[in-house]
Formats: sequence, structure tokens, C-alpha cells
Amino acid sequence: MENQEIRTFGRRHGKKLSARKQTLLETVLPAFLPKNIKNTGNLILEIGFGNGEHVRELSIRNPESIIIGAEPFMNGVAALLSAITDESTNEILDEYKNIRIWPDDVRKLLKDTKLLFNEIWILHPDPWPKAKHEKRRLLNSEFLELLGTKLSKNGQIIIGTDHYEYFDWIVNEVKKTALYASFPPLSIIHTRYQEKNMAQTITPKYLILTNQ
Ligand SMILES: C[S@@+](CC[C@H](N)C(=O)[O-])C[C@H]1O[C@@H](n2cnc3c(N)ncnc32)[C@H](O)[C@@H]1O
Repeated sequence: MENQEIRTFGRRHGKKLSARKQTLLETVLPAFLPKNIKNTGNLILEIGFGNGEHVRELSIRNPESIIIGAEPFMNGVAALLSAITDESTNEILDEYKNIRIWPDDVRKLLKDTKLLFNEIWILHPDPWPKAKHEKRRLLNSEFLELLGTKLSKNGQIIIGTDHYEYFDWIVNEVKKTALYASFPPLSIIHTRYQEKNMAQTITPKYLILTNQ
């Protein structure tokens, strides 16, 4: 993929982690890697989950599905691990047993996988607002085309952003693909990034993409 080397995320590491979070990354994360997953028809992917609030929501709302969350920012991965494990034993909490974590660039996961997803969620993708950074935007036509090939029959890509300029840019990128777009008024949980509302807009805009 042409854009494989262009970095679409900021930092991989942030402020120093607590001892518990460091332990979770070292000893618990390996059990969460998305290995030996079958195309069961019940797979959901969330790309760039931040601290993982919406991954947890997906897990609880879809107990029969496997939820794979992809996030290269290790402090976010640690935050999700901390929220889905028991504070004293570090054991996975029952309601989150269907979560798997890909702690890296999602493009590395998608390049080789044969997995097909019912839903692919991307909430508040990094907007990279400066013109010189536009090439870092993840949701370009090439990547959207790739996501389209990873959808199961009737699968959906759900995108939400409070950055209206990036939203319009994405809509334009979609026009270069064979995907169909619709613009439903969705109401979903507030993620950490939405709480910050860096773009100062009133409400996020949502876009659903399908293959037909
Ligand atoms: C603006 S944050 C939003 C986080 C979260 N979705 C929320 O709403 O709070 C965008 C996230 O996308 C992640 N990201 C950017 N490029 C990515 C990639 N290629 N693969 C996976 N995640 C990526 C970043 O690390 C960052 O955590």
C-alpha cells in the first residue's frame, strides 16, 4: 500500500505509566492479541480506539461478537486493559471477554488478514488540520477501498468526527471509491476525544459506508 509508511498517528508513548498499567502491558496484553480468530460472521473492528470507551460499549452491546480494537498509542492500550481487568487479580472481567487488542497501526493488521467484519468503527480519526499534514489522514480513498474489501455481506463502516472539514474531505475521498455513503443521525456514547471537542463543533457528523 502506497501510504503504508506515512504515519497517521501522533505518539506511541505518552506520560509514564503506573506500575499496574506497565504490568498489564507486559503480562496481560499478549492474551488479548487477535490470534486464531475465525470468520464467524460476528466480528467488529474499531480503529483508533483511544482509551477504549467505545470498544467497551461495543463489547457489552454485542456479547456474541468478537470486538477487535486497534490502537498504536500504548497509553490508550494500557487504559483499556486497566478498565477491562480486575484491579486486584488483573483477570479479565466477564463482560469484556470478547475483546481483542491490536496494539499497533491497523494497516499492518489489515494487510494480511482474511477476516471480514460486520462493522468497522472509526470515531474521531486524527484530523491533521494543517495542509502540510494532509497526507497523514488515514481515511483516504485507498484506505477506504481496503476497508470495503474487509466487510462481510451487508457489513458497514461507521465513521464519526467533530471536525467538519475532515468530514467533507472524507466524503470527497469516498466519491473516488465504489462504496455507498449514507448520513444517518447516530447517537452513540461520548468518547474521550469527543468530550474534548477540539474542533468546537456542536455535534459530530456521521457517515456509514457499505458495498451496496
Ligand atoms: C483523535 S484520536 C480519537 C480516539 C478515540 N476514537 C476517541 O474518540 O476518543 C485518534 C486515534 O486514532 C489512532 N490512530 C491513528 N492512526 C491509526 C492507525 N493507522 N491505526 C490505528 N489507530 C490509529 C491514534 O493513535 C489516536 O488514538
